[in-house]
Amino acid sequence: MPRTHALADTRILVIPGSLRRASLNKALGRAAAEVAPAHVAIEIADLAGIPLYDDDVYAHGLPEVVASLRQRVAEADAVLIVTPEYNFSYPGVLKNAIDWLSRGKEQPFRGKPTAMASVAAGALGGIRAQVALREVLHYLETDTLERPELVVGSANAKFDASGKLTDEPTRAQLAKLIASIAERVARNRTIAAACAEA
Ligand SMILES: Cc1cc2nc3c(=O)[nH]c(=O)nc-3n(C[C@H](O)[C@H](O)[C@H](O)COP(=O)(O)O)c2cc1C
Repeated sequence: MPRTHALADTRILVIPGSLRRASLNKALGRAAAEVAPAHVAIEIADLAGIPLYDDDVYAHGLPEVVASLRQRVAEADAVLIVTPEYNFSYPGVLKNAIDWLSRGKEQPFRGKPTAMASVAAGALGGIRAQVALREVLHYLETDTLERPELVVGSANAKFDASGKLTDEPTRAQLAKLIASIAERVARNRTIAAACAEA
């Protein structure tokens, strides 16, 4: 019988696809920390300061800010990307960061449990950003969670002036998503342990 691992000590790195201080996507990341159970730690990354991808720069090595984010992705048990929708897709700052992170050996997204959520002003909540992002994650061979989908539309009405997520149904969906990510991590640990014992 394979040992079943408890849902303990799961570290989820949230990567917001928006730079702005009052970003509602960043706010969703903070809300994730509020709804996460005690055994799940939420860390929030910031894409500020990541230069535009340049292969000539990469030829001299990863910029410090990229190397540090790369290490955080590598060390996290799972990643949750929370992104706005910009013109039917996800923002260039996010793609730029992913392009940097994809470089080099031991690409950190490979096999990494990765979920996504979107927060957008429009009624469709950034679903088109998620569709576009999903293709990229597929190429990066992430262990992408298909469900539950978290799409936060008409977002300005769901957060208060301080950036707190006040919409209870959205908080409940977010809690479900965090629980699903933790379950995926636990499942993968169980499989890895069973393989090690075989
Ligand atoms: C360049 C740009 C393009 C946008 N395109 C869309 C869009 O296609 N669909 C949508 O729902 N909102 C769109 N928006 C509005 C964003 O959803 C809204 O500004 C959102 O709050 C941004 O996320 P943030 O609060 O995390 O920064 C766009 C905003 C910008 C700046």
